[in-house]
Amino acid sequence: MNNKQKDPAKKNSITALDRRTFIAAGASVAGVVAASMLPGLATASAKGEEQSSTGCAKPGKRMLGLLEVSSIGLGVQNMHRKYTTTVPYRPEMINIIREAYNRGVTFFDCAEAYGPFENERILGEAIEPFRDKVRITTKFGWNINPETGERGPGLNSRPESIKRAVEGSLKRLRTDHIDLLYQHRVDPQVPIEDVAGAVKELMDEGKVLHWGLSEPGIQTIRRAHAVLPLTAIQNEYSMATRDPEKEVIPLCEELEIGFVPWWPLDCQLLTGWIDANTRFAPGDFRAITPRFSPENLAHNMQLVDLIKTWAIRKQASPVQISLAWLIAQKPWIVPIPGTTVMTHMIENIGAAEVQFTQGEIAELTAAVKTIEVRGQRLPDRVLAFSGVEAPTKG
Ligand SMILES: NC(=O)c1ccc[n+]([C@@H]2O[C@H](COP(=O)([O-])OP(=O)(O)OC[C@H]3O[C@@H](n4cnc5c(N)ncnc54)[C@H](OP(=O)(O)O)[C@@H]3O)[C@@H](O)[C@H]2O)c1
Repeated sequence: MNNKQKDPAKKNSITALDRRTFIAAGASVAGVVAASMLPGLATASAKGEEQSSTGCAKPGKRMLGLLEVSSIGLGVQNMHRKYTTTVPYRPEMINIIREAYNRGVTFFDCAEAYGPFENERILGEAIEPFRDKVRITTKFGWNINPETGERGPGLNSRPESIKRAVEGSLKRLRTDHIDLLYQHRVDPQVPIEDVAGAVKELMDEGKVLHWGLSEPGIQTIRRAHAVLPLTAIQNEYSMATRDPEKEVIPLCEELEIGFVPWWPLDCQLLTGWIDANTRFAPGDFRAITPRFSPENLAHNMQLVDLIKTWAIRKQASPVQISLAWLIAQKPWIVPIPGTTVMTHMIENIGAAEVQFTQGEIAELTAAVKTIEVRGQRLPDRVLAFSGVEAPTKG
């Protein structure tokens, strides 16, 4: 059995966990489902499901390569500063991470660049009491001064810089090992074989257990995997951004590499909390992202409306449909939705309980494909760092 076949998803149901029969008979669903009745927020549970200490069903387990994680993770990027605007209340962020663990989340996504540094500190403090029970990721590769955290231009994946970055990450995360270390973006100056060599040395020292790449070029994935097997590729992927379906996800399937979608909710677009009239504060990344411009946003509501229709049909929330759709794509896909709100985190975990039949997922995906999402997923200057091929050696 290859490691991807270990996923507990059943043959005729797509998710890792059976959906619980949480809606009492006769409950009516008109428009938005009441929060207390959403998967994950309900307390009733069907026989045989794994229970968390809270009495709610837990997310299932999935394999990313040889790394076992919960079927839904938690991204902590916004926990220091939300889309570079507001500052969330730090003790509450720690509560959210700990409560996510109580509810069965064992996969937490971070990066040196988040903050920079501060989000690793938040995550490290939060998980310290149960460090060995969870899997944490961090990323290196932006040009960040290891002492001051000052951000220089471009990237830096020189081997000595990777090692320095990891030492800093280990301290801030209050741990002696990183479960999954990603290169945040491919450095066009450094052969991927040299990057792999530095990561391999860190693995030999026990400081890093698995590695992955974020937004790499296709050939770079092949070359990296050939010298040091990759555990996961982390790319933007959601109902609104389906680009990885063309090449990256088929390649992950071929090479048995896991896939972690970032921006699984497309920065809140796919939650139903943004409408055609939403405008973003100066400094909010979405204010400069083409997809969120007033004219594109109005058009893109077609996708949100589709998700809302399915939310009613499946007695779930729009965010749960968005995440459940991702989970249903492959048994080795693990989304890492981000949130700074406790009830949102609980709602997001509930997506693991939303179950589609094969017919339903085919129907939903076909409908998603008929909708053209307008506006580039990232501004040009950011997109320029994606899909880059590392130079060859010599
Ligand atoms: N590899 C990379 O280059 C890369 C790039 C970007 C992000 N990432 C990773 O991906 C993770 C997720 O990204 P993200 O958090 O920016 O985007 P996201 O998960 O697509 O969406 C987060 C947004 O949705 C909102 N949200 C979450 N759950 C909600 C719910 N149940 N109801 C209503 N709104 C909800 C959040 O606001 P609230 O806080 O109000 O809930 C936030 O505005 C990051 O934390 C990071 O770890 C990686």
